[in-house]
Amino acid sequence: MASTHVASHHARVLVASNRGPVSYALDETGTLTARRGGGGLVSGLSAIGPEADAVWVCAALNDGDREAVRRTGGALDPSDTGGQRVRMLDIAPQVHADAYNGVANSVLWFVHHMLYQTPLEPVFDADFRRRWASYEAYNRAFAEALAQEAAQEAAVLIQDYHLSLAPRMLRELRPDLRIGHFSHTPWAPPDYFRLLPDDIAAQVLGGILGADRAAFLTRRWADAFTDCCHAVLGPGIPSGTRIGVHGLGADGDFLRRRAHEPDVDDRMRTLREQIGTAPDGSARKAIVRVDRTELSKNIVRGLLAYEELLQSRPEWRERVVHVAFAYPSRQDLAVYREYTAEVQRVAQEINSRYGTPGWTPVELHVKDDFARSLAAYRLADVALVNPIRDGMNLVAKEVPVVSDEGCALVLSREAGAYEELAEDAVTVNPYDIRGTAVALHEALSMPADERAERTKRLAAQATALPPARWFLDQLAALDE
Ligand code: G6P
Repeated sequence: MASTHVASHHARVLVASNRGPVSYALDETGTLTARRGGGGLVSGLSAIGPEADAVWVCAALNDGDREAVRRTGGALDPSDTGGQRVRMLDIAPQVHADAYNGVANSVLWFVHHMLYQTPLEPVFDADFRRRWASYEAYNRAFAEALAQEAAQEAAVLIQDYHLSLAPRMLRELRPDLRIGHFSHTPWAPPDYFRLLPDDIAAQVLGGILGADRAAFLTRRWADAFTDCCHAVLGPGIPSGTRIGVHGLGADGDFLRRRAHEPDVDDRMRTLREQIGTAPDGSARKAIVRVDRTELSKNIVRGLLAYEELLQSRPEWRERVVHVAFAYPSRQDLAVYREYTAEVQRVAQEINSRYGTPGWTPVELHVKDDFARSLAAYRLADVALVNPIRDGMNLVAKEVPVVSDEGCALVLSREAGAYEELAEDAVTVNPYDIRGTAVALHEALSMPADERAERTKRLAAQATALPPARWFLDQLAALDE
């Protein structure tokens, strides 16, 4: 299934993830254009020296990626990847779709984020078993590629719920390797996790326990994993797997620099015009949110809380704008498409109910634009981060770092970031719409000097473990 490939030299550090650091677009003329992504793993990997011969193993996600694999045999051209060695796996499209959409994103993601609710129920039928076989095959393709690429006793860092079986599979192929698994999601508590069929639950846990070290973003998720092991597999973590916690932080240096480039200044001007001025001539306040359009992000309840604010506190009408960036995500899944439509519908309803000729209460934008996100972070008076559940939530950490004049953070107690940021945030139960409206009012009313002080402390906390250190800490912990 994986393309045949002979590693030219063996890596001493390997990273494996579904989504890699680069993706390709293929146009009608057959030209391939590479687009590099950002994120914690990209800056983490760049922090290790070239002598490690690090290689990143990832899956082809679209036709452009598959064409790039066909042309290169899977070892991508380093000029497309900023010099990083990347091995891309062309997993059969149906197998990948079943594993990624059919298991990882529609079952494991839903379990860890506790997203099932009537009529959105788990279905573990024969078709699920077929998709599960694809999930196994997909994990095996990664394990085999990693086994081929790794030098003796190399360190392998396997990422996320897409790859929960790969650690054990790799351990069986290469007992010499030092294997880490990192979960970027929450982990579900046992009562919820055990809605998975017993054998599947045991495979997921046993797969991760194939690693020497299983790491999580917060103590809470790490403890939930341990509790699930006890509940499903019996007392004691059987394989001697060590459990770790590494709370990924924001990349302060990068963000501060990037947020002051000219394209961000341009976007700030446009946003300021859209937000406009209140009837008394003062600048309107901005409540900002930036998310993938993702069920766990709780965007609809955020909009409803904003509506409740306008309803219960009419003094805010025409004096505030909710700037909501909701970038499309996982649109192959019907429930994500429906959610995207619902977000748009609710935003329109609020605008038609409360809007006036000079005031659009909700500015909803769906086209992904990083420069515009940074512009919104800089000018936000309030940032709304209200996920139902979230592994960490980096928006909560990025806003305080780039905020120009201080920003009040409304933060869900179910975000991983809560463990670190609660003290200086206005915290909410994400299900409580009324409570969130009250929190928005409190945040909007916070005196400027208090807001600035809190933002300073939040920024310091948010940058305590920047991506490069987060990554190096995991490597160091594998050696212990
Ligand atoms: C979460 C997951 C990541 C994933 C990201 C985007 O943060 O933990 O592994 O890459 O969502 O999701 P996508 O399905 O677009 O890769």
